Amino acid sequence: MKKMTPVQQRKLEKAARTAAKHSYSPYSQFRVGAAVLADSGKIYVGTNIENASYGLCNCAERTAIFSAVAAGERPLSCVVVYTPTQTATPPCGACRQVINEFGPRIPVISICDSDDRIETTLDALLPAAFGPQNLD
Ligand code: THU
Repeated sequence: MKKMTPVQQRKLEKAARTAAKHSYSPYSQFRVGAAVLADSGKIYVGTNIENASYGLCNCAERTAIFSAVAAGERPLSCVVVYTPTQTATPPCGACRQVINEFGPRIPVISICDSDDRIETTLDALLPAAFGPQNLD
């Protein structure tokens, strides 16, 4: 995991806000944007993509992470999640598990439309996680 600069963090937060504009969320009407910083310095974005078969909805964080990994980017340095709400939204349990796979200690930042924010780390969000080491 590489340490992120303040400029990178600003860019990452802006990218997450912009990504929410592409949210496909006709069922929940809950728009989410995510941005992932890879160790290479590149940013990958994602949004939540819902489906008429509700169980197939994919969260913004996982969309962003899968697109980073599909581009060959591992490990990851930071995940930002944005919701157009007044309180910041933490990542769901499934997304925590997926972040753990590629960044077990990385910063996870939630931002919204007010000054409220959550700045934490994956290991604080998902302590004692099941991970690749458990398959050794
Ligand atoms: N959602 C995310 O994209 N990320 C989260 O961490 C929480 C939930 C999405 C899934 C669904 O499309 C909508 O928000 C409502 O749950």
